[in-house]
Amino acid sequence: MTNNHLISPSLLSADFGNLQRDIEMLNNSEADWLHVDVMDGVFVPNISFGQPVVKHIKKHARKPLDVHLMIVDPARYVQSFRDAGADILTVHYEACNHVNRTLNAIKDAGMKAGVVLNPHSPVSLLEDTVQDCDLVLLMSVNPGFGGQKFIENTYSKVSALKELCQRKNPACLIEIDGGVNLANAAKLYAAGADVLVAGNSVFSSPNPAQTISDLKRL
Ligand code: DX5
Ligand code: ZN
Repeated sequence: MTNNHLISPSLLSADFGNLQRDIEMLNNSEADWLHVDVMDGVFVPNISFGQPVVKHIKKHARKPLDVHLMIVDPARYVQSFRDAGADILTVHYEACNHVNRTLNAIKDAGMKAGVVLNPHSPVSLLEDTVQDCDLVLLMSVNPGFGGQKFIENTYSKVSALKELCQRKNPACLIEIDGGVNLANAAKLYAAGADVLVAGNSVFSSPNPAQTISDLKRL
């Protein structure tokens, strides 16, 4: 069976001591993208890793890197994440002074551009931005950590975003990040999601590659 569901497993839940092994597993799985979470300890409480690690991930990955910047003023780092190997770059609406300018800089640098909304930010903020997006990422947890509980209000935000995209940019993909698992994925697709990020539910599963296939086929 084929569908248009894309899965972007989050390396935040991988074994950082065995990153190459875990990337190989993803290369050999049905994962579509590799989700790479960059955190600065200011925009979010946690610090993850930066460009030097992304560069090494890129060396081994055979799928597009979906780099999610959880950092203040991300416009400063567009080119350096391109140089590190990002294929898709997403920046938080809440972290940008000039969202549209930043999205255009990402596209000019040769990447797909996306904007991210925190759980507290309404979809209506994107009325004048969605035209410039290749994708929109809705956070379904407060960003900063893997393994958190999915926020149920996300379903209605996905429907609202789907309606906005249909009106203003039907090609825009809808990506969901945080607490995604086999129990909520089908309902997210039904509401209009195209891409699901999954960290804990993939890497804590006894068979991560199988869980990726299962998430894709729901
Ligand atoms: C959270 C990150 C997520 C995280 C998702 O701040 O943006 O990408 O890795 O992990 P799970 O799927 O475990 O919630
Ligand atoms: Zn993320």
